[in-house]
Amino acid sequence: MRTKIAGIGHYVPEKVVTNEDLTQYMDTSNEWIIERTGIEERRYAAKHKETTSTLGAKAARIAIKNAGIEPEDVDFIIFATLSPDYYFPGCGVLLQRELGITHREAAALDIRNQCSGFIYGLSIADQFIKSGMYKNILLVGAEMHSMGLDFSTEGRNVTVIFGDGAGAVILQPTEDDNQGILTTCLHSDGTHAEELAMINPGSHSGYHLGTEKYGYPDPSTPGGTFVTQKMIDDNLMAPNMSGQLVFKTAVVKFPAVIKEALENTGLETTDIDLLVPHQANLRISQFVQRALKLPDEKVVNNIQKYGNTTAASIPIALSEAWHDGRIQTGDLVCLAAFGSGFTWGSALVRW
Ligand code: UT7
Repeated sequence: MRTKIAGIGHYVPEKVVTNEDLTQYMDTSNEWIIERTGIEERRYAAKHKETTSTLGAKAARIAIKNAGIEPEDVDFIIFATLSPDYYFPGCGVLLQRELGITHREAAALDIRNQCSGFIYGLSIADQFIKSGMYKNILLVGAEMHSMGLDFSTEGRNVTVIFGDGAGAVILQPTEDDNQGILTTCLHSDGTHAEELAMINPGSHSGYHLGTEKYGYPDPSTPGGTFVTQKMIDDNLMAPNMSGQLVFKTAVVKFPAVIKEALENTGLETTDIDLLVPHQANLRISQFVQRALKLPDEKVVNNIQKYGNTTAASIPIALSEAWHDGRIQTGDLVCLAAFGSGFTWGSALVRW
């Protein structure tokens, strides 16, 4: 028994935000952003009208239709995001409600593996399908970064990179030996957890990084430490990133985890028909391409249009490539991601 991708879809919000648009809010330039990241524009969701789960639902409807099933056929939902609608409950149940998947047997799982969320979700789905527990798994990666970014110059190294969007797949069992997920490789290392993170609000109350910075009251004070006034006053509730550390680690881990997947399956880099890397930074993807000696036509890059959409980036790029006819039956598709945690992973899929 193998797991196949039976349906795929993506959705990006209508609003296009160019690099030039961002210069209204922060000290940056189109030239800097293109040179360092390759990004030309990104999409932002419509506030009051769209949320992470509604973006996910739009992508999911396309994937469900593409698989030739109905929403009520979905028996398990996996939702990957770092920008959920609510602190809790997670987006999985909100998506379930939005799609009208109301039968009692359906279940929803939320995962928080940031840029690697889709690969982690794929691996989880693969195990559930292979064990025979579920027959139609809906895996969604969706982000609405625009709601949580710091638009001042202080936040520019993070803010210019990220965009909103969603991608989804339907996963089903197949007995065809020549099709489906061949392997998934997952890794993590929490040593640098805070180097690409949104620390606040949270339960840490200064445990990892000291109490003073965040203005925590005396520990005997009951409650009241989730959000402090100092966090708001000192603008401490936005994501932060040590860009160079992330970059340098990513360009080592990406090729390594792809080679691990190839070794697991006895395949070579020359067997890859299409590499769909997490769209972190065009320079990272180009580095990985060179390390694996892949020609341009074998690597998907769409970060120029959408920026880095974290958990959504692989399913958006995969869906776009499939809808553009870049993936044919029998192709070997390689997916790989690296990001916050640090977490990273890869998957090989025979289409
Ligand atoms: O998907 C999650 C994983 N994330 C990533 O993979 C991101 C990996 N890292 C990167 O993509 C890059 O490190 C960045 C694009 C984030 C930054 O590029 P960099 O070449 O590493 O720049 P830097 O952070 O070393 O900053 C260089 C300079 C600094 O100025 P000074 O100190 O040299 O005067 C920054 O303040 O560039 C400045 N800078 C900017 N200037 C204009 C940082 N961000 C910007 C900006 N516009 N948006």
